Amino acid sequence: MVDGKTSGVYNTNQNERTVIVKQLTKNFEVIEKEKGLTGSIRSLFSPAKKTVKALKNISFNIAKGELIGFIGPNGAGKTTALKVLSGLLYPTSGFVQVINFQPWEKKREYLKKISMVMGQKTQLWWDLPAIDTFELNQKIYEIPDTEYEKNLKELIDLLEVGSILKRQVRTLSLGQRMRLELVAALLHRPEVLFLDEPTIGLDVVAQQRMRDFIYEYNRRHKATIILTSHNMDDVVNLTRRVIVIDNGEIFFDGPLRKLVTDYVKEKTITVNLSGQTDIKDFETIGQVKKVKFPEVVLVVPRETAAVASAEILQSFPVSDLTVEEEKLESIIQRVFRRSE
Ligand SMILES: Nc1ncnc2c1ncn2[C@@H]1O[C@H](COP(=O)(O)OP(=O)(O)O)[C@@H](O)[C@H]1O
Ligand SMILES: [Mg+2]
Repeated sequence: MVDGKTSGVYNTNQNERTVIVKQLTKNFEVIEKEKGLTGSIRSLFSPAKKTVKALKNISFNIAKGELIGFIGPNGAGKTTALKVLSGLLYPTSGFVQVINFQPWEKKREYLKKISMVMGQKTQLWWDLPAIDTFELNQKIYEIPDTEYEKNLKELIDLLEVGSILKRQVRTLSLGQRMRLELVAALLHRPEVLFLDEPTIGLDVVAQQRMRDFIYEYNRRHKATIILTSHNMDDVVNLTRRVIVIDNGEIFFDGPLRKLVTDYVKEKTITVNLSGQTDIKDFETIGQVKKVKFPEVVLVVPRETAAVASAEILQSFPVSDLTVEEEKLESIIQRVFRRSE
């Protein structure tokens, strides 16, 4: 689980709020096509409109320097939330402020302070080497030469991309390209970074590399980072606080640890027996899930797991005993299934 070493929160100042969101709602109007040919024709003349409620009245704050994860099933509203925060979408209603700006006004000073990286989109020019995009970004963001050189060098070192800067982007692997995307997004040293599924499609080695980098960038520059991910490894390894979004609503906002204590009511004890015993006796201790000599698996309430373990060790011939907690991935899946 998350501990001091791997937690992504670096020296946050709770008084300094970088993101304030109050009662944010975002609806999309979509046209529903009716079935069949006559339906298609009818839709053409009197289209049936439907409102998709992507975000329903959500509120949260994020402190400067926080590294926070938005998690939730597909279609929950995570990308929509990031798009509103980064100024790509207007909200339908509600209050949004990021570093004292209203994102959708897209003020130059605002755009110079933020960056958005989407795992499935690219800002690099495919037919050119990445270094050309970087130089273009230097001009767009008006980065002074000395700063540009310094930032570029730091990013090249951190992301180990020195050898691929001059290669045509389309010839690179996804992992290589994603690292270059990050360089492009961070050259202007944004204070706030929005990462939408930054590890999607990457192999495990590339995922870990990406996570190491995000963690280090947050630590080094006290950047506020909001990431969305399907990948529980990202969440467990990087973020201490998570906002769980489900169906446009905030389902949970708090420390990852609390999500576990709130939703995990049981622990699993696996016992390895060193001799024959009456299995029935285990039923007085917990719910017996599996018996396959010499292994017995039982489930006990979370709070009594320690007492139950002690009792087992005393009353049975035991060669080994392990106590396990449900994995975060499975907790979250269970939580989501519950709300379906
Ligand atoms: N441009 C759009 N037009 C219509 N509906 C959209 C648009 N973008 C997103 N949606 C809908 O809004 C909901 C939230 O989508 P999204 O924010 O992409 O979810 P997530 O990123 O959590 O998977 C979904 O029902 C999706 O279909
Ligand atoms: Mg998304």
